[in-house]
Amino acid sequence: MRRLCCRFPLSYQPFDCPEVFSASGTCQRMEITNVMEYEAIAKEKLPKMVYDYYASGAEDEWTLQENREAFSRILFRPRILIDVSKIDMAATVLGFKISMPIMIAPTAMQKMAHPDGEYATARAASAAGTIMTLSSWATSSVEEVASTGPGIRFFQLYVYKDRNVVEQLVRRAEKAGFKAIALTVDTPRLGRREADIKNRFTLPPFLTLKNFEGLNLGKMDKTDDSGLASYVAGQIDRSLSWKDVKWLQSITSLPILVKGVLTAEDASLAIQNGAAGIIVSNHGARQLDYVPATITALEEVVKSAQGRVPVFLDGGVRRGTDVFKALALGASGVFIGRPVVFSLAAEGEVGVRKVLQMLRDEFELTMALSGCVSLKDITRNHIITSSRL
Ligand code: FNR
Repeated sequence: MRRLCCRFPLSYQPFDCPEVFSASGTCQRMEITNVMEYEAIAKEKLPKMVYDYYASGAEDEWTLQENREAFSRILFRPRILIDVSKIDMAATVLGFKISMPIMIAPTAMQKMAHPDGEYATARAASAAGTIMTLSSWATSSVEEVASTGPGIRFFQLYVYKDRNVVEQLVRRAEKAGFKAIALTVDTPRLGRREADIKNRFTLPPFLTLKNFEGLNLGKMDKTDDSGLASYVAGQIDRSLSWKDVKWLQSITSLPILVKGVLTAEDASLAIQNGAAGIIVSNHGARQLDYVPATITALEEVVKSAQGRVPVFLDGGVRRGTDVFKALALGASGVFIGRPVVFSLAAEGEVGVRKVLQMLRDEFELTMALSGCVSLKDITRNHIITSSRL
């Protein structure tokens, strides 16, 4: 195993670390200075099947790359000589006060990354004063995550063909104190993730999709394809439509965030059908390839929403500058996906805490250097998008 050396950046590791290194092969003196550095450590530590599942996108992975590149095409128009000695990053999401507009997106099966899995993520989010979204396909149940202690948590919902399963799960999430449902609407079928097909991806046999354990749906069979794609084909309701958003409201009083909106048309429909908020998401580029980066799609959705409901974004957020750019284009907050699983793999709860802290620090610095002291100061005029360059 390569021993990563703290004397060189992760992108340039000419030889194995001659210093102290941990059992995982990571030099203990390694200074992590940004969120992206966790990916190389995760790649080294995790079995290939798991790393590939976390890292990959659909088909050509054009959107995966674009989710990052589109951020790099947005530049700043910073304002100067503004007193930035005090910066307030506090945000309010669906009436809940959080310490910063950076939240945790649902990512499935976190115990493949670290034995503490979703517990570690829940604790790290709560320590940072922000929201964690728990995936339907978590390897810890809603009750288990609730038992980690206080914290504002949302529950991400996949709608199964068997609506009794869905009803039970939503009630359990409500009872466990989850505050909103993020309804994922971009997955009537699973996107074609070629790495998972090649690896015959499946949930390792020592783990279960904990929320479904008692319902006989917690295991995933190994197939000669992606085991997850087969599971989705068997269980997930492809007929899901807007009327089901109404149905969901009839079985729960929790607010519903529609996750996976990329167009103005669907933003209007989401609002007409009672959504409490919209998440502009392309599922981390894991579903339909060649959809635009979320930061590119954000503005049309924001315009269509006309301030009636908050609009959030996920996809490729790796820097505090990305968070600022999303807010300047009208987002009320952002969610992060892969940085959580990669930092979990590297360092468990400590890693997730560091990711949240680094993004917080970078975002605060971006606000200061742009002349913004609170979120409401961040405007469209603080950035230049490529059409205006
Ligand atoms: C996801 N995502 C996801 N979304 C969802 O609604 N339910 C889920 O169970 C999962 N699981 C999942 C696993 C992994 C490994 C990844 C990378 C992503 C999508 C996720 O919520 C979010 O939309 C993206 O991860 C955001 O993009 P970034 O931050 O990963 O670039």
